Amino acid sequence: MRGLKDKVTIVTGAGNGIGRGIALRMAQEGCKLVIADIDMKGAGETVRLIQEAGGTAEARQVDLRKVPDIDALIDGVYETYGTIDILVNNAGIQIREWATDFPEEKFDFLMDLNLKAYYFASRAAARHMKQQENGGSIVCISSANSECFTTRRSPYNISKAAVNGLAGTLAVEWGRFNIRINAVAPGYVMTDMVRQGIAEGIIDIDTNLKVIPMKRLLSTEEIGNAVCFLASQEASGITGQTLFVDGGWSRCGLPEEKDL
Ligand SMILES: NC(=O)c1ccc[n+]([C@@H]2O[C@H](COP(=O)([O-])OP(=O)(O)OC[C@H]3O[C@@H](n4cnc5c(N)ncnc54)[C@H](O)[C@@H]3O)[C@@H](O)[C@H]2O)c1
Repeated sequence: MRGLKDKVTIVTGAGNGIGRGIALRMAQEGCKLVIADIDMKGAGETVRLIQEAGGTAEARQVDLRKVPDIDALIDGVYETYGTIDILVNNAGIQIREWATDFPEEKFDFLMDLNLKAYYFASRAAARHMKQQENGGSIVCISSANSECFTTRRSPYNISKAAVNGLAGTLAVEWGRFNIRINAVAPGYVMTDMVRQGIAEGIIDIDTNLKVIPMKRLLSTEEIGNAVCFLASQEASGITGQTLFVDGGWSRCGLPEEKDL
């Protein structure tokens, strides 16, 4: 895809799961990756996989629940490379409990990572991008849960709906600086987040497939493809949008009667 070669790209939460898939895919397009994660073992493994495939990557540790840590990460990358071209806000967590029982501290924990970190990382990156001739591109990983609301995930669903709004509202402010910001909303991808839901007895994949028209889960590579597109020059006129990569889930009403 045009406009990705040698672009300095930070992917948060790329030490595992979808973030790793996004980083691998962007490295294939020639991006220079900064793998930003709290888990340095996972981040190191992503770097190893990228380098083994001939790409360029380094790992940096960050706790995205702390705004000073976020600023240090983004400013540190700018100091090293003299530019920040692409930021992918990906790190997120899921906590599954009924809304009537949801504890305040768990609500704050989730929102700090799934929403507040996206906002402050975007802010820190945009402060550099607005000075750059070519601006920059930010992609936020949302979820099909931003529109398809499921039980026992209310703070998560709310955080993801807010991420779609975050991309829209910052696009309006930052278009004048040539900074584009969009969201990608994945359906189910088999990562630790989903494996945990299955282990808790809350996710049942066979039931979920009844309302997913393509009748399968998504791969991390498919999410990476959408991120590459939105970050690239191919999407030069697109900002403030949410692209659903969910096998049609967000377009489905009820399951077919024969499936019931
Ligand atoms: N897996 C799915 O089906 C699915 C579907 C839709 C959206 N998503 C979204 O995709 C994103 C990635 O999810 P995943 O399934 O790959 O999750 P995951 O649990 O496999 O990976 C999350 C990564 O974030 C890192 N992380 C956690 N807390 C952090 C912190 N405080 N600071 C820095 N890094 C931290 C973890 O170390 C890990 O590497 C999330 O935003 C999630 O909401 C996932």
